[in-house]
Amino acid sequence: MAEKTKKKAAPKPAKAVKAAPAKKAEVKKTAPVKKVEAKKAAPAKKAAPVKKVEVKKAAPAKAVKAAPAKKVEVKKAAPAKAVKAAPAKKAAPVKKVEVKKAAPAKAVKAAPAKKAAPAKAVKAAPAKKAAPAKAVKAAPAKKAAPAKKAVAKVAEKQVTIAFIGCGIQAKTVLIPNIIKQKSAVVKAVCDCDKVRREAAAEQVNKYYTDNKKAKLATCKAVADFRDIINDPSISAVCIATPDHWHAYIAIAAMKAGKDVYCEKPLTYSIEEAQLIMKAEKKYNRIFQSGSMQRSWREFRTACMIVRNGFIGDVKYVDCNYGNASAQNNKEIEKFNANLGGPSHPHRFFCQWDAIAGKNQTVKAESAPNDDVDWDMWLGPAPWSPYSDQCAPRGVAKFYPMFWRFDDNYGTGYNGDWGAHHLDIAQWGLDLDKSGPVKIVCSKEAHSTNPLHGGRRQFGMQFVLENGTVINHTPFGIWGTVFYGTKGIVAVNRGCIAVWVGKGVKPTAAIRKAIAENKFDKMKCVAFCGGVKYGFDPTQKKDDSLTATLDTFDKYFDLANAKVQLYKSPLQEQNFIDCCISRETPISPAEVGARVSILCGLCNMSYVYDTGFDWDPVNCTFANGTGDPAWLKRAVYRNGWDIRALLD
Ligand SMILES: NC(=O)c1ccc[n+]([C@@H]2O[C@H](COP(=O)([O-])OP(=O)(O)OC[C@H]3O[C@@H](n4cnc5c(N)ncnc54)[C@H](O)[C@@H]3O)[C@@H](O)[C@H]2O)c1
Repeated sequence: MAEKTKKKAAPKPAKAVKAAPAKKAEVKKTAPVKKVEAKKAAPAKKAAPVKKVEVKKAAPAKAVKAAPAKKVEVKKAAPAKAVKAAPAKKAAPVKKVEVKKAAPAKAVKAAPAKKAAPAKAVKAAPAKKAAPAKAVKAAPAKKAAPAKKAVAKVAEKQVTIAFIGCGIQAKTVLIPNIIKQKSAVVKAVCDCDKVRREAAAEQVNKYYTDNKKAKLATCKAVADFRDIINDPSISAVCIATPDHWHAYIAIAAMKAGKDVYCEKPLTYSIEEAQLIMKAEKKYNRIFQSGSMQRSWREFRTACMIVRNGFIGDVKYVDCNYGNASAQNNKEIEKFNANLGGPSHPHRFFCQWDAIAGKNQTVKAESAPNDDVDWDMWLGPAPWSPYSDQCAPRGVAKFYPMFWRFDDNYGTGYNGDWGAHHLDIAQWGLDLDKSGPVKIVCSKEAHSTNPLHGGRRQFGMQFVLENGTVINHTPFGIWGTVFYGTKGIVAVNRGCIAVWVGKGVKPTAAIRKAIAENKFDKMKCVAFCGGVKYGFDPTQKKDDSLTATLDTFDKYFDLANAKVQLYKSPLQEQNFIDCCISRETPISPAEVGARVSILCGLCNMSYVYDTGFDWDPVNCTFANGTGDPAWLKRAVYRNGWDIRALLD
């Protein structure tokens, strides 16, 4: 469902709302953390002072060869041919050298002898910008392929970006967050809905005009994303279409040499997740998936506490991202009773109005809408008559749930919100390059809600190789709760709670506190509501979250902890920064793909009402369980065949 940056009202289900107790009261409660836990929990000195940044670990040996840079990401580096294309002057300025941006080995070798001189100088040349990728050939019937060169020689240190899919997420989160990045220039917006693309272009041009950058107010409104992909003046794209389009557009864009930011859930199917990982490697582009919670401090802090062993060995994790009933909010319950679980093929008639901040009914389907190229909206999905629930008329103001809950386009709550909270489980458990080995079928009752097609709504489990279990549960806060042998960490947007110390067990009192989000009653726990967090309009801005996180930093001495997780200020900013530096972003394709696989396995377990064994290395079912057909879309309509795209 609708998620937003911290600054926006979070249109999430009731539970989160109720969960948020008066923040002011909480502010004061954050203090006890150190008093109570400090003595019991692992003292700061326990933490090993050796820093270990995940990203650095990824740096392959050959990068070192190229330059003394420790942070070089060879895979992100420009291919040799790109270097050839780089103008000589780019390879110069020794002074500007920043070790971390040093060019990879390949680039050095490719550079002409005279310019190859100081390795550092090479670094200064963002050769990848010039990457002359092949133009995308794949394209359905009506539009033939493209241009020869899809990436322009844009100015150094500038990312020329286009948005594909101008619905509510692009309008309220992505465009505002990217347009304000100094290195980004928004050149175009694309939507198959005329009203939306024109409104988005206006939004961009108005921003530039209002901010005294009228020269940049030349944003084009484009109907067909292939015209973006084949436009050599554009170096990066930001994709925020419905889920069924993500992988195709992302792979086509990488193939054409663009860097890509793609919204979560990264893919519609598990096969697409595999293809996108392959494409990222093959085309060597900067890729950021929209796992934006990784850029939020509370989630990083939670995962740092877990990954550094402060709660001992994690035995199980509860992920609540959509449960059988939105029982905590009458308003939502009235419309969206029993939201959660897998996507379903039925539609209901309520939408979250992000502008008004409340649910409202919407009209039933009606006549065709000339503003929308419906065939393009459907893309690879099976043909279906125009639906003004899936593609609501006019400028986006809803988080449209209809396509999210339609199996042909969306991935249900498991994909919509699971992509966020399962991702935090994945980060906290260090699963970015692996996954579960077993999926256990839910034992809950089958839903009798006609919208659910008889499917169970929660209760499935992922089992990891070491026996740790991740539960999809309706229990507890909307978010992720890690249970370790020496403590518990509960985290959601705007709140974090930690219990540590030898005898800390998930007692009834603690479980009740988690369930009710009433952390303020617990001594060794902190809780906070941020700016306009949740639905509760009475919530005021306060600094309790920051204070709480500062407390944890100090208490656990996180700055000196052995495992240092990637630190990003903002998902979109990190992407733009990495487009310039060519470093790996916080959520590269594999992160998004791996969590999409979790979401897919979760859905599958409910849809086919079964458990199965899983091989996370090959991304296949194991031990004769499951059916490979479940992993893919059987037919890609109208020539939008992603398998053919990645040749
Ligand atoms: N990170 C988050 O917290 C967050 C929050 C909300 C949405 N999202 C994600 O963003 C994506 C968009 O969600 P939304 O709520 O904005 O949906 P939306 O329906 O409001 O917007 C999707 C837009 O894509 C357009 N579109 C469809 N097919 C297209 C095509 N072939 N070419 C160009 N445009 C096309 C539609 O016309 C529509 O305007 C989804 O993947 C969703 O999961 C992420």
